[in-house]
Amino acid sequence: MKNAKLILDGQEYELPVVVGSEGEVGVDITKLRNESGAITLDSGFANTGSCQSSITFINGEEGILRYRGYPIEQLAEKSSFVEVMYLLIKGKLPTEDELSEFEHLLTIHSMIHEDMKKFFEGFNPSAHPMSVLSAMVGALSGYYRDDQSLEREMDINAIRLLAKLKTIAAFSYKKSMGQPFVYPRNDLSYVGNFIHTMFATPMENYEVPDVLERALDMLLILHADHEQNCSASTVRMVGSSQANLFASISAGISALSGPLHGGANQRVIQMLQRIKDEGGDPKKYMEMAKDHNSSFKLMGFGHRVYKNFDPRARILKKSADEVLEELGVQDPLLDIAKQLEEIALADDYFIERKLYPNIDFYSGIIYQAMGIPVNMFTVLFAIGRLPGWIAQWKEMREDPHGRIYRPRQIYVGENSRDYTPINKRS
Ligand code: CMC
Repeated sequence: MKNAKLILDGQEYELPVVVGSEGEVGVDITKLRNESGAITLDSGFANTGSCQSSITFINGEEGILRYRGYPIEQLAEKSSFVEVMYLLIKGKLPTEDELSEFEHLLTIHSMIHEDMKKFFEGFNPSAHPMSVLSAMVGALSGYYRDDQSLEREMDINAIRLLAKLKTIAAFSYKKSMGQPFVYPRNDLSYVGNFIHTMFATPMENYEVPDVLERALDMLLILHADHEQNCSASTVRMVGSSQANLFASISAGISALSGPLHGGANQRVIQMLQRIKDEGGDPKKYMEMAKDHNSSFKLMGFGHRVYKNFDPRARILKKSADEVLEELGVQDPLLDIAKQLEEIALADDYFIERKLYPNIDFYSGIIYQAMGIPVNMFTVLFAIGRLPGWIAQWKEMREDPHGRIYRPRQIYVGENSRDYTPINKRS
């Protein structure tokens, strides 16, 4: 299979076919407009490949997710978040020396410029931490130069961002609680440091609980990349104009905040809580989710790519049971979630539309058991997704054929008409 043929107004056009390393087929329309004057129209980009990428592979029909070829199940069980960051960004698993050098860099860059603390004072205490995170990441370019070479940007600004994002996230939480900021400690691990800066206070010693560190490390691995999703595409889109890394990632954080994307994890818990508060009958809400006249949606269900199951949700469902047991937490919301899943898996509406629990369905229950407040859930998603965004940004910038992202449109507005003076308008 080398070429595809398109017949438009009786004229035949040959279009090259690109085949990926897993056999995925794409019809290359790069020259289509030049040759035919026509474009393709694909609302929501469900059939459009925006790039060729060697970072993450997903097969939605078979529920497969791999980072740089490694199955997510193996990484979740055997790897660490820091190692996965390295893998995504550098393209290979690190040696022991490479890993310890990388960990060292992430540790020594974890403080933010002291002046940036003043920014937090300007936010309303009720500001959503995702708004704070996106604003603060955008502001980093005011502190760390953005007129650097791509190599330098990747070397040092990527490290700074990876090291500082979790500090900014914890500071935004402390601000919302009215508590003093807690500085990172160089003797703690990446994830341990995040937990420390979130939960420690100056009044007493705080030991990072091992169970929290392990559970969070695994959660972050599961979130680390997901190929060309809404936020990764946003990062690539902004970066394609050669905007700096901080500006591009700040835009990605904003894209992630929406309830159809990363913001869903917060909405899942709010939905489960509502079901519990209103009597705990999941069937009623399943009926509402199926009714197109109702605005109710089953949050944490459905996915553009996964049409069988989301492998991340499978891992998390099992892990939710284990983590809650280890923490000695009994959460009635977990039972409601399981009931919803059971009903959905046997219901024609969900079966026909291939709607299954996604990563956001069980993650919130684990975060809640860990004592993480609901409005921080999406921030955790952002910390997890950061290495993926950086890897996508780097791949886009290093592509010798890379061009500014600039889609076309089919205009369906008014045809040319003359300006009407204001006194003649009805
Ligand atoms: N509850 C009820 N019906 C649904 C749901 C849902 N959660 N998701 C999709 N549907 C229905 C939808 O109404 C449509 O029905 P019909 O064909 O009768 O019009 C059909 O399923 C196809 O849905 P779609 O909206 O065309 O699917 P999409 O690929 O455009 O959207 C989605 C994918 C994830 C945005 C959507 O499933 C959704 O809104 N889910 C809830 C929000 C959520 O959990 N988002 C997190 C996604 S995973 C984490 C991440 O990557 O961000």
